[in-house]
Amino acid sequence: MMRFDFTNKRVLVTGGTRGIGNAVVNAFNKAGAHVAINGRSVDSVAKTISRISNNERLFAAPGDVSTVAGCESVVNSAIEILGGLDILVNSAGIGVDVLIEESDESLWDTTLNVNLKGTFFCCRTALGALRKSGGNIINIASDAGLMGNPNSAIYCASKGGVVNMTRAMALELAPEIRINCVCPGYVDTDMVRRDWIDKDDDPVSLEKMLCDYAPMKRMATPEEIASSVLYLATVEAEFITGSALQIDGGSTAGH
Ligand SMILES: NC(=O)c1ccc[n+]([C@@H]2O[C@H](COP(=O)([O-])OP(=O)(O)OC[C@H]3O[C@@H](n4cnc5c(N)ncnc54)[C@H](O)[C@@H]3O)[C@@H](O)[C@H]2O)c1
Repeated sequence: MMRFDFTNKRVLVTGGTRGIGNAVVNAFNKAGAHVAINGRSVDSVAKTISRISNNERLFAAPGDVSTVAGCESVVNSAIEILGGLDILVNSAGIGVDVLIEESDESLWDTTLNVNLKGTFFCCRTALGALRKSGGNIINIASDAGLMGNPNSAIYCASKGGVVNMTRAMALELAPEIRINCVCPGYVDTDMVRRDWIDKDDDPVSLEKMLCDYAPMKRMATPEEIASSVLYLATVEAEFITGSALQIDGGSTAGH
């Protein structure tokens, strides 16, 4: 992990209780930031904070970001606890792997509400505080936002939306607020291991297939995604806005 200094910076990470979001929380915590952690329940956020040994700069901002009211409540409570906001990371998301003809309205709404609507309304709610601090936003999109994946039309729609929404917001918010997204390939988190690999009839073959998907022949670690998130949040990245950074072991480089 690269060494960054975010001493006294105020950060909110949605979906910070697990996976990529949790690695982002840990990385900002190690870099000296004050971090508000969001997850769906009071309990999951409290457990996450208690699991981390140096947790005196970690704060709870629980709530469901799939509704506008939920986003406003989470972001406003984080701004209040932190006394402002410098960096917003939108990592809350759900993965969906389903055939088109097996999809229904409820699955579409659930996925789009968390992955796309939640990202938009958390950004919108944070703008006032970020204008004051000269802060920036990083959205966790996906390689599935840059290309199509089979059995994934709904997820691809949500992540393609995040990528292009990030670009559109960058134009509107520059030069005051930078906004970027990262586009991971497969990352070894609960979303992939617990929800897909462990539930598959042939977990060994599925894991090999997911690893072989990237030219680098493995999945990313959550910490590798967190490093890029922290880089995009630094002043060293201050000319980067509207970008979609692939962290995918080459999977979107071409086939
Ligand atoms: N794991 C991958 O291979 C991968 C690849 C590309 C992109 N992503 C994206 O990265 C992000 C994080 O994924 P992950 O792999 O860490 O998943 P994960 O399942 O390990 O963690 C998801 C987090 O989001 C939170 N969350 C889900 N719905 C929420 C809601 N309505 N309100 C508040 N919090 C909610 C969960 O509580 C959890 O903390 C997601 O946006 C995902 O789409 C993941």
